[in-house]
Amino acid sequence: MSEMTVNQSKRRFLVTMTSAVGGVAAVGAAIPFVGSMLPSARALAAGAPVEVDLSKIEPGMLLTVEWRGKPVWIASRTPEMLALLDKHDDRLTDPNSEAAGQQPDYCKNATRSIKPEYMVVVGICTHLGCSPTYRKEIGPADLGVDWPGGWFCPCHGSRFDLAARVFSGSPAPTNLVVPPHKYLSESKVLIGEDQAA
Ligand code: FES
Repeated sequence: MSEMTVNQSKRRFLVTMTSAVGGVAAVGAAIPFVGSMLPSARALAAGAPVEVDLSKIEPGMLLTVEWRGKPVWIASRTPEMLALLDKHDDRLTDPNSEAAGQQPDYCKNATRSIKPEYMVVVGICTHLGCSPTYRKEIGPADLGVDWPGGWFCPCHGSRFDLAARVFSGSPAPTNLVVPPHKYLSESKVLIGEDQAA
């Protein structure tokens, strides 16, 4: 291939690239308009409420959804799981959810929930922001015989029970955060908005 042919193909490449960049810029300029016509994606990013269908969650299982860029867990708690919740208050930092801002007032109760069978909570550790692991089993070898089920943070070992209340001695200072939410029906919950909104 002669030098001239190489230069010509380089030029063609540059011309093609310039048109492509121009095309991207044009698409970019169109996005705000399209966005205003279809607000869902932008609204979601800005924190719009997220509707969740609970009918697919098996008892004892955990569903994760995203709200405001954060994971929100919905744990389906069985009667057996709920029965264990009041057995370890003396091992918790804040058993009665006294710390302000960790839950809406309507979840400042023994189960930290509107409906005891569902725990709705932001899945971010209140220590340094890792995402804890769901450990619903009772007394597993690695967590000890007195483990009542809950969440374990692998980063620095914080422990939370099935109401997302932190165990004393954990590096996390507070219980996990319960986001605002409300039930739209028996099987639908809206994360990010409550009756007060
Ligand atoms: S981030 Fe969870 S224990 Fe440190």
